[in-house]
Amino acid sequence: MTDSRPDESQLISEAVAYAAGLDASAVRRELSAPQGPHRWPRHRLNEVDLEWRRWRLRRWLAADEDPPGSIKLFERLAVAAGMPPAATAPLATEVGGALTTLSYDEMFPQGPLIAKAMQARVVRQVAARETDEQYAAMMLASTRRREDYLRKLPDDTWWMIGDLISEATRRACVAEIATLPASAGAAYDGGLSPGWDKEHDALVSRSCNAYLGAGPTLVAIHEDPALVAQISARMGRRMYPTRCTYLEYRPGDFLGVHTDQPTCEVSLLFTVDGEPGPMRSYFDRTATGPAALHRWVHDNGQFPDGGRDFVYRPREGFALTGRAVPHARLPQQESAFIGALFYSGLV
Ligand SMILES: [Fe+2]
Repeated sequence: MTDSRPDESQLISEAVAYAAGLDASAVRRELSAPQGPHRWPRHRLNEVDLEWRRWRLRRWLAADEDPPGSIKLFERLAVAAGMPPAATAPLATEVGGALTTLSYDEMFPQGPLIAKAMQARVVRQVAARETDEQYAAMMLASTRRREDYLRKLPDDTWWMIGDLISEATRRACVAEIATLPASAGAAYDGGLSPGWDKEHDALVSRSCNAYLGAGPTLVAIHEDPALVAQISARMGRRMYPTRCTYLEYRPGDFLGVHTDQPTCEVSLLFTVDGEPGPMRSYFDRTATGPAALHRWVHDNGQFPDGGRDFVYRPREGFALTGRAVPHARLPQQESAFIGALFYSGLV
């Protein structure tokens, strides 16, 4: 007698196609309406949208998980707008159980895009009460996720885009920055203790620079279908715009060595104005595990020697798989404005 269980990878491919094909435009309009009750910012809309698709994908495969409130709201609005409710593939009844053996973390090792999902996946402990055994178990889980994630990446972990924007667009970006509210500068919330963050599967350290937000010009570059298609082709899977911002660096500002959050699998950076110093990428540390990265930062500080420095000229884009590759920006000599565009995958 042969095993009648269907091929899992084939089922997952079908579920991914189903989830990617859902039309959430009505929900997005409602959640972002300026006069509406929700008024979600664009990055939240993008990230919950992707996370809702992941939840639908897993529901289709009969993996039944209770989603955070933001996903429940997204689902409720989708159904109210006429979409059939989340469903499970009929095959699941025949087979009698989930159609996938993969956990959420095994299916999406890049990590959840919204904080509530992140917190649900890791049982949070107050650090002081964390036992050695708990710490070791969480580090092991984080290490496995990073290993799984690295296997998803292409061989080329960075690339340059020669003519990312025209000179006219660059000038439009300069004009747009002038319309944004002045920021006193905010430290990246990576925390004050450089090292491995096992909850976010990321290397964190200190930074000092200003996040200025975005306007329609930057958003249009971010969402340009040809650009998104190019990034997806490079990554070997469909990528989605998540968030974008202008960054201001004043003399002395810096970004300590770190790896990016799940919402920034790919960073695409370009100079809008000024003279930014080099962006340093430690490609030879990409395959390094969390425990060794933790020690590396402790022993060498947040600007370790080595790495490769990139200076990108105006109109030129530098794309980096920053969730994998540790990177830093050394203390700046001059003022500069940078455009930063971030992308992540559904799977
Ligand atoms: Fe980064």
